[in-house]
Amino acid sequence: MAPLSALKTPWAEHLFTYAGRPCTLLRVPRPVAGGLSVEDVHLAAFSRVCTHLGCAVNLVRDPEVLAFAFNYRPPDGQPHLGCRCHYSVFSALDAGKAVFGKANGPLPRVRLDVRGTGAQATVWATGIEPAPALGG
Ligand code: FES
Repeated sequence: MAPLSALKTPWAEHLFTYAGRPCTLLRVPRPVAGGLSVEDVHLAAFSRVCTHLGCAVNLVRDPEVLAFAFNYRPPDGQPHLGCRCHYSVFSALDAGKAVFGKANGPLPRVRLDVRGTGAQATVWATGIEPAPALGG
């Protein structure tokens, strides 16, 4: 799916589709429940289908954008996944939990595997949590 070497720094992102769902693979700065760590590289992947009404969520890197556009100032100052339809915010560092807005359910997590070693190491998606009923 994506070479591990392409995710050079924390918050590097690779967009992909799994089981018909748009998803995001993120390199995150610390281990995440349901994510995958390979030595000092921590990864997490989520469905990008907002659990409110199904719009696409995107990574919002700038906490000031979260504060002014989404009216949510992340206490940890870290990037979050945001949905611009109704401004729900999800925490990639808290297993995709909905932390602000109309969405109540977390973003489904994508199970990851790394195959190969060194420069040949590649990240693969191997499963995804069931999609919740929308509107939660
Ligand atoms: S569809 Fe995402 S917040 Fe409403």
